[in-house]
Amino acid sequence: MEMRTLGRNGPQVSALGLGCMGMSDFYGAHDDAESIATIVHALDRGLTLLDTADMYGPHTNEVLVGRAIKGRREQAFIATKFGIVRDPANPSARGVNGRPDYVRASCEGSLKRLGTETIDLYYQHRVDPSVPIEETVGAMADLVKAGKVRYLGLSEASGQTLTRACTVHPIAALQSEFSLWTRDPEQNGMLAACRRLGVSLVAYSPLGRGFLTGAIRSPDDFEADDFRRHNPRFQGENFARNLALVDEVRKLAADKGCSPAQLALAWVLAQGEDVLAIPGTRHRSRLDENLGALDVKLSTTERAAIDAVFPPHAAAGDRYAGPSMQMVNA
Ligand SMILES: NC(=O)c1ccc[n+]([C@@H]2O[C@H](COP(=O)([O-])OP(=O)(O)OC[C@H]3O[C@@H](n4cnc5c(N)ncnc54)[C@H](OP(=O)(O)O)[C@@H]3O)[C@@H](O)[C@H]2O)c1
Repeated sequence: MEMRTLGRNGPQVSALGLGCMGMSDFYGAHDDAESIATIVHALDRGLTLLDTADMYGPHTNEVLVGRAIKGRREQAFIATKFGIVRDPANPSARGVNGRPDYVRASCEGSLKRLGTETIDLYYQHRVDPSVPIEETVGAMADLVKAGKVRYLGLSEASGQTLTRACTVHPIAALQSEFSLWTRDPEQNGMLAACRRLGVSLVAYSPLGRGFLTGAIRSPDDFEADDFRRHNPRFQGENFARNLALVDEVRKLAADKGCSPAQLALAWVLAQGEDVLAIPGTRHRSRLDENLGALDVKLSTTERAAIDAVFPPHAAAGDRYAGPSMQMVNA
């Protein structure tokens, strides 16, 4: 397994992690037995980085991950997140909470659900604009001192927020959407800030929520409650325009002798040793396919050909619908 250093001098973690979110939420029906088998298979293959959050489910995804790692805790590097608050009465509504008391209570809840004494990487999921980042990170740093958390991360924080956070405690990782069709971190200073501060960039939704694999051909492919039905990139004219781009990626992948998913992941991993990717899948077979991306090495010419198909801002539609887009601290 290819390993990369987390942060400036942090631990070695697998270059490709496993996003566990879709095993419990957002992308339609799930099968816990196959999901657990997928996590176990990932660990058997040497993948260490498992990504979850308290709001996935909510809560059930952490429980699932906890079940999967039982008896093999030392093989896993567990990343979870706090800070997005869901209302059980209105599950699609979102709030944020970065207050110190909420940070402490959330950590206790995650430790219990995961069945572990320590979270390896604890992220603030979204920055709370009503709480200074120094206060939130101060409370997170106290969790490190207490031995409940090993490393700290932020998700969808701007370069400026990251810089302020690092004055309180080293931040090992910044998680952001980063893929062929979401090149924001290159464009908005986030990746540059990470490099200046010695922070790894963890690319979430590196397969474009499945779209870049070429497997999604119509909005009708989604179940009724699938999150993607409401995502601007998967709707109407945007869907058709984006599908035309993905079909070009399919051709490049065929020329390279790999799958489109492998090409998309290889592109993310080629952005630098300080970039990790956490593709999500609920299936062992797709996990194996995705791990095959580690063997796909792109030449400068091949990267230029991919860039020509998917230059920054090529994708049609925002990556989130309005209210969720406003929660991104760009
Ligand atoms: N920090 C944040 O705000 C944030 C936001 C979103 C996600 N995340 C994290 O990032 C992880 C990954 O992102 P994501 O799950 O949104 O998107 P993704 O990794 O870009 O794509 C996942 C989708 O692709 C499908 N897929 C995976 N491998 C495939 C393959 N080889 N061929 C065809 N389809 C394939 C999966 O379906 P199957 O399951 O059916 O294979 C799933 O629907 C999440 O699990 C979560 O942990 C974080």
